[in-house]
Amino acid sequence: MTILVTGGTGYIGSHTAVELIERGYEVIIADNLSNSSESVLDRIEEITGVKPKFYLIDLTEREPTEKIFEENKIDAVIHFAGLKAVGESWQKPALYYRNNITSSVVLAEVMAEHGCKKLIFSSSATVYGEPKSVPISEDFPLSTTNPYGTTKLMIEKIYTDLATSDKEWNITLLRYFNPIGAHKSGLIGENPNGIPNNLMPYIVKVAAGELYQLSVFGNDYPTPDGTGVRDYIHVTDLALGHVASIEKMTEPGVHIFNLGTGKGYSVLEIVNAFEKVNGVKVPYVITARRPGDIPMCYANPDKAKSELGWETKLGLEDMCRSAWGYAVNKLKK
Ligand code: NAD
Ligand code: UFG
Repeated sequence: MTILVTGGTGYIGSHTAVELIERGYEVIIADNLSNSSESVLDRIEEITGVKPKFYLIDLTEREPTEKIFEENKIDAVIHFAGLKAVGESWQKPALYYRNNITSSVVLAEVMAEHGCKKLIFSSSATVYGEPKSVPISEDFPLSTTNPYGTTKLMIEKIYTDLATSDKEWNITLLRYFNPIGAHKSGLIGENPNGIPNNLMPYIVKVAAGELYQLSVFGNDYPTPDGTGVRDYIHVTDLALGHVASIEKMTEPGVHIFNLGTGKGYSVLEIVNAFEKVNGVKVPYVITARRPGDIPMCYANPDKAKSELGWETKLGLEDMCRSAWGYAVNKLKK
């Protein structure tokens, strides 16, 4: 079975490509390298022994996207490609709408023209906006608090409409919670450009001495220690959620799953676990809340467990150890 992985040189895409290849799938990657590097292909080869076929293309462009389907018989697509920085999406909303939505529409049109109607889309817990309670189930009301989140919600709606109009479509919308960590080999991981926005990459840079200290955004939330609580999921568990989804793609229609652990950790719990597991110091200071942040967000992952037979296996220690392992590996090079 041949799977096109868009955004496959990126953080989650590369981990998913590895898990697919290791299970015998043929993987083709398409990426414009706007937030990743071609060297990831060599790392995937180092881990799996297979270097995936690669198309350096922008999925907002129709012709190069068509070329992939003309040159290959694609059975299913996992669509990771997209821009994902919440803050940047406020500065450049048009870029986010054009990039994320145009690429998703062009991809679906080209797929349909070539008779490929199995699609998995990277959505996000951000589509739940400010949830009324936790844990969050798939049937909770949807809303967004930033342009990035709105692109995800709009693409979910576009894909749902497609499946309504054409009963042959088989579409899975996967709503990820907070992916962190890296592959156990230390060869692939999260590699943000510049100063990271997200907690774990920031902690890693502080521990490495590249950044002075972590700002903990608020300790006056209605949470056990006052800092924000999130559902951190190991990127390898997340990747395996995609494998499970591919394997269960038998029924046409739209299928929606939360991919999370069901357990929330606070910012300070993450900092403490990281220090303990890796024997490093992460100096921090409490600062004001970050605008747009919610107090608590964690998944009810029961639907993925019962329908996909998938659940997370790796805990917080694995997440912290592997994130640091990847960083140390990079520092050595
Ligand atoms: P990433 O930036 O590491 O990977 C995305 C990849 O898409 C990059 O390699 C980038 O170069 C590529 N890309 C972007 N626009 C493209 C285009 N027009 N054409 C071709 N390639 C393009 O991000 P990630 O963390 O691996 O996220 C993957 C997907 O999961 C994204 O859609 C993201 O919105 C979603 N998601 C991520 C998180 C998270 O916290 N990392 C949470 C929820 C959802
Ligand atoms: N935080 C800090 N200091 C930092 C960075 C983050 O205290 O320097 C805190 C935040 O306030 C929050 C927690 O750490 O309480 C997690 O923040 P992240 O930025 O790592 O993650 P978010 O939950 O804000 O958002 C992430 C992605 C979104 C996605 C969402 C749900 O950035 O795109 O998870 O999947 F939508």
